[in-house]
Amino acid sequence: MAGTHDGGGLFQFVTIRFLPPMLRFETAGESHGECLIATLTGLPAGVPVSLEAVDRELWRRQQGYGRGGRMKIESDHAEIVAGVRHSHTIGAPIGILIRNRDWKNWSEALAVEEAGGAEDKRKPLTRPRPGHADLAGAIKYDFHDARYILERASARETAARVAAGALAKALLGEFGIVVLSHVVAVGSARLERPAEWDEIAALSRRGEILLGCVDAEAEARMKEVVDEAYRTGDTAGGVFEVVAHGVPPGLGSHAAWDGRLDGRLAQAIVSIQAVKGVEIGFAAEGAASFGSKVQDTIHYQREERRFTRGANRAGGLEGGITNGQDVVLRGFLKPISTLRRPLESVDLATREPALAAYERSDVCAVPAAGVVAEAMTALVLAQAFLEKFGGDSLRETRRNFLGYLEQVKSF
Ligand SMILES: Cc1cc2nc3c(=O)[nH]c(=O)nc-3n(C[C@H](O)[C@H](O)[C@H](O)COP(=O)(O)O)c2cc1C
Repeated sequence: MAGTHDGGGLFQFVTIRFLPPMLRFETAGESHGECLIATLTGLPAGVPVSLEAVDRELWRRQQGYGRGGRMKIESDHAEIVAGVRHSHTIGAPIGILIRNRDWKNWSEALAVEEAGGAEDKRKPLTRPRPGHADLAGAIKYDFHDARYILERASARETAARVAAGALAKALLGEFGIVVLSHVVAVGSARLERPAEWDEIAALSRRGEILLGCVDAEAEARMKEVVDEAYRTGDTAGGVFEVVAHGVPPGLGSHAAWDGRLDGRLAQAIVSIQAVKGVEIGFAAEGAASFGSKVQDTIHYQREERRFTRGANRAGGLEGGITNGQDVVLRGFLKPISTLRRPLESVDLATREPALAAYERSDVCAVPAAGVVAEAMTALVLAQAFLEKFGGDSLRETRRNFLGYLEQVKSF
């Protein structure tokens, strides 16, 4: 609340809405810097944390046919340096560090302190790549080469998101909520049938990941698209689907624009590098259909005293509130912007036409983007979950959650 004196002896009060989410996270780190860092604040004490589970998520983010050479030199490992002791959260901010194994080759190019005569050790990028933050960032931050911009804009940052997301998943897992993803399209090659939850779960346990599709035949067609991109010096995009299973009804709210969970999830997904669109449920199909074909009819099972739905085209969200069905989101990834056959650009120093710079790069990253989207979805769902159920300790959160489930049962 802020008071303003109106000169007439009366105070008028305006309410300033500033409610930071109970659960919040930040990342720091550059693509070729020393390390990436994630902090996560607001998890209750007592959430079990397994380093192996966090590393498994990091591994999943690094997989997929079409990833660049870097994935071969780096095998990510999370070091939790704060907030977790004896395999449990302690209610304090959590600090996670992921070292960049390539740092030794960049320690002079990206030195923290300027050393005299080291200018020639820098690796400037003066031919900005279309589709990257290179040019817009260089203009905005007033750098005459785009090195610092690309270092931070790079999707390497998503490793830190995935590590934080793994802890959000650990919280959600305590309440039977599981968030996974699969690939539904690479370029023009699509999965032409719905995927069952069990198939998506089985996919997440695989020891090898090709393109993250539940259907072998569709995956083979997706691989052909990536092979063509390899052959022609081009890149491919696609569509991933995230499914959150076991979500209770009642997360998020219709009451205020910024409480609507559909909007919050959409922001989280589109914040992922190269994601240019998001769909909740079957939005595109719905827009081309009549209302009678799109809404999920409501039914009631008297014996079990529960509501059921005719389908889940809404993707588990109505009015910005979870409705108890699986939350289903799709992210649309543009093709990777760095091309081996570079596009036209301009040299920042000479202003002459020049081909865009090439940095070692992925050709296709759709399965990895799906894993990042799982993390972002888990973080947003965990935020909404803690807003609703609160709790400084897991025991307290659980008590509140179970009380609410009782209430729902007897609705
Ligand atoms: C998992 C993942 C990996 C990516 N790898 C690359 C890459 O190797 N090369 C590249 O040019 N872009 C890559 N991108 C996309 C760029 O980071 C992104 O297009 C760029 O930062 C510009 O941001 P914008 O596309 O969101 O506008 C990747 C994106 C994701 C999600």
